[in-house]
Amino acid sequence: MSTREQSVHTPIRAADYVGQAEQSSPLPRDWSRAELPDTWPDRQRGGRPLSLRQVIRHAMSTRRQRVALPEDLPGREHIPKYVLQEFHGVPNGNYSNCITRGYVTGFEISMLGEMRRVRRMLVQHLGDCQRVIDVGCGSARNAAAVLDAGVPEVWGLDVSPYMLRHAANDHNGLRLMQGLAEDIPSPGQYFDGASLVFVLHEMPTRSVTRALGELARVLCAGGKVVVAEPSPLQMQLSGWQLWRRYGWRGVYFRWLMRSVHEPFLKVWHRMDFAAEARRRGFEVLEEHCAVPVRSWVLRRL
Ligand SMILES: C[S@@+](CC[C@H](N)C(=O)[O-])C[C@H]1O[C@@H](n2cnc3c(N)ncnc32)[C@H](O)[C@@H]1O
Repeated sequence: MSTREQSVHTPIRAADYVGQAEQSSPLPRDWSRAELPDTWPDRQRGGRPLSLRQVIRHAMSTRRQRVALPEDLPGREHIPKYVLQEFHGVPNGNYSNCITRGYVTGFEISMLGEMRRVRRMLVQHLGDCQRVIDVGCGSARNAAAVLDAGVPEVWGLDVSPYMLRHAANDHNGLRLMQGLAEDIPSPGQYFDGASLVFVLHEMPTRSVTRALGELARVLCAGGKVVVAEPSPLQMQLSGWQLWRRYGWRGVYFRWLMRSVHEPFLKVWHRMDFAAEARRRGFEVLEEHCAVPVRSWVLRRL
């Protein structure tokens, strides 16, 4: 690890950058070899992890339990309570050694190739940038696509260290840091591009608003943001209307959205995101609403 990389207990807040030169770089960390503590799905009876059958049974049940974090989890003290939910019915949410990999793969499969389309959109809009941050990067497929398109410096930011370790092991050349969308551990005006894919609908409205404020801070003037989130259409239209407009895929995404546990989805769909982005100093260049994805392209004024 170079001296510019973070130690195990990393500063993961924007405040750590106050007073630093505007162009000093954020701190990456090598997450590939991070030893992360087991959580309850990792050690069932006999020390074995949850079986696939148990995971499916857990996801299908309506009983949700609070995510439990080990005392020695990196960044634990900065992880807000709203993140600690079993989104999508995943046992212990985004926090376990054995389950998060399956979730990442399952997400791609369940989206029937739509995330590839999203990645093409990211490359189209951010491919000319010099420094891009993918916020809520998960296993960083989206960040990697931007890096492969030739952007010299691509960062992935995620609150879950388990996700960051997948990202580091799956992709070379990305810079990864632990942190929150609403408290980005970076100096101001550092990036000229940002992406957020399927992240904001997992956050309460006040955190989305704060995240927009943080994006306005870390982006330089003219910097672009691409946002892609679940569309409200698959929730609002009837099965018949979806069938007529989008065929069986429309009906499938309606079923999917209604089956997974998404505690903030309704409030996210009620929010006027474009208006809030304008209030925070962005121009809305594009807005597109289809099934299953709604997207925005913003420009920092
Ligand atoms: C549904 S996954 C999407 C991952 C990735 N963007 C993709 O499209 O594959 C949401 C990710 O956002 C992260 N996340 C949720 N809330 C966050 C926040 N406030 N700040 C940073 N990351 C967050 C989660 O840990 C998770 O990895």
